[in-house]
Amino acid sequence: MEILGVDIGGTGIKGAIVDTKTGLLLTERVRIKTPHPATPEAVAQTLKELVDTIGYSGPVACGFPARVAHGIVHTAANIDKSWINTQVEELFSQKLGQKVFVANDADVAGLAEMQFGAGIKHKKGKVIFLTIGTGIGSAIFNDGVLYTNSELGHVLLHGDSAERYCSEAAKEREGLKWKQFGKRFNEYLSLIEFVLQPDVFILGGGASKKFEKFKDELEVKTPVIAAVTLNLAGIIGAACYGETCLLKEQD
Ligand code: BGC
Repeated sequence: MEILGVDIGGTGIKGAIVDTKTGLLLTERVRIKTPHPATPEAVAQTLKELVDTIGYSGPVACGFPARVAHGIVHTAANIDKSWINTQVEELFSQKLGQKVFVANDADVAGLAEMQFGAGIKHKKGKVIFLTIGTGIGSAIFNDGVLYTNSELGHVLLHGDSAERYCSEAAKEREGLKWKQFGKRFNEYLSLIEFVLQPDVFILGGGASKKFEKFKDELEVKTPVIAAVTLNLAGIIGAACYGETCLLKEQD
């Protein structure tokens, strides 16, 4: 199926038409800066601009950086607080005059990684996929099945959400070297390992591109590998999520 996948992030809104069978982009990736303040109306307007730039009409699916259940946004750690309780699927659908599906950004990126990336070899067993960017997003898979809307970036570490201590944004804010970041991330992984005991951790998001620079600091027993779909995972995964929703509707 061909569907427009969109990755809504704190700094950019990115999209492309995806062939969900192959996970390949059928158009070039278009990126528009996230508006500030990123209120629901402003983001909906930017999404429309993106869709118009691509010249697309058809169903759209978006990854969104918050907990989203039944089309409603429930958290707002790194986004404008006015998003809480917004029916984002309705808002976007009305703005575009198209069907729009929305799910958590890390969940959809994880779906792409499981289908087309490092997760292919881990369809059996327990996988924890973590995206390291402005926040820390998570997707948990058991035998390839997603446990939706986990928020492992918000487990407490040193008295605050772990993402405040070891996200890419925390690294930049505090001017940490990769080695220092790696030591912090190792503390975080140890905690998650102790609580959930996965078979493998897959790291995605911006910082995963620099995996080589901090991987030697990771001392957890669980194997840790870098994602391979990198910054396209959000777009590809959103499209795959959209396809699943459309197929369910046809049932
Ligand atoms: C949010 C998650 C999101 C992650 C990555 C966190 O702050 O709570 O829902 O997946 O950032 O964007």
